[in-house]
Amino acid sequence: MPEPMLLSERRARGVLWITLNRPDVHNAFDDRLIDALTAELARAGNDASVRAVVLTGAGKSFSAGADLTWMRRTAAYTEAENLADAKALAKLMSTLNELPKPTVARVNGAALGGGTGLVACCDIAIACEAAVFGTTEVRLGLIPAVIGPYVLAAIGPRQARRLMLTGERIVAVEARRIGLVHEVVRAAELDAAVERVLDDLLKGGPEALAAAKRLVHDLAGRPIDPALIDQSAQRIAALRAAPEAREGVGAFLEKRGAHWRE
Ligand code: COA
Repeated sequence: MPEPMLLSERRARGVLWITLNRPDVHNAFDDRLIDALTAELARAGNDASVRAVVLTGAGKSFSAGADLTWMRRTAAYTEAENLADAKALAKLMSTLNELPKPTVARVNGAALGGGTGLVACCDIAIACEAAVFGTTEVRLGLIPAVIGPYVLAAIGPRQARRLMLTGERIVAVEARRIGLVHEVVRAAELDAAVERVLDDLLKGGPEALAAAKRLVHDLAGRPIDPALIDQSAQRIAALRAAPEAREGVGAFLEKRGAHWRE
């Protein structure tokens, strides 16, 4: 039996580890891997027992982005076929970006092209020192189109203009400096760093985490006007009386752990 191109493992505390598993091509993704990952993320998003998702790669790299043999095949597609194909990749990125669970990119090595896109779509990114990043598409005569919105949201248009036009590779500390990753650690410390961030994430109420994520998405780039101020009051008013907030606030005042904490 061929190795599955995606490994999905439920670990302790309701954490789902998803591993891109095409190490021979540095976890480049083709249409099949895109479909498999999108479906797995959608399942995780609907599964109340999944508290957080970790995304990583098997072998030396995180992901070398689009599978270039697949890209070459698409040159022979009709316009409609190409659009459907590109939409599937766009759907993967939006599904990951909007997943109603916290997501952590465990960047174990190179994350190029769509690999950088996947990192940008995760809530938190922790990279090993050897990881490299880049939107290399122009060097292939392509553009970082479907990952563009997420890369821009992570690093802003000024940094994006340089990266997207030069196609250069940047090292992990530079990726941290421009906001693409949050933390850079030695390879041997990668798992401990991921566990530390999971410790913090799992202290949050599951519904509050989903709502906090929606909050950031909804606020990003919007002017602070009366409508936004009004909505911000409505958001918290709606949550205050909800069972999760009653439990969380009650647990604090009663000096006990809320039921979602170990
Ligand atoms: N699509 C398909 N195959 C890929 C690939 C991709 N995106 N990236 C790497 N591979 C394949 C190589 O063709 C090679 O195949 P081979 O063993 O049949 O020759 C194999 O993976 C090993 O790659 P190699 O370049 O020899 O490994 P490396 O360790 O020197 O470098 C990378 C690894 C990821 C840095 C390098 O392969 C790379 O830069 N890949 C392209 C990344 C990119 O620009 N992606 C954007 C796509 S839009």
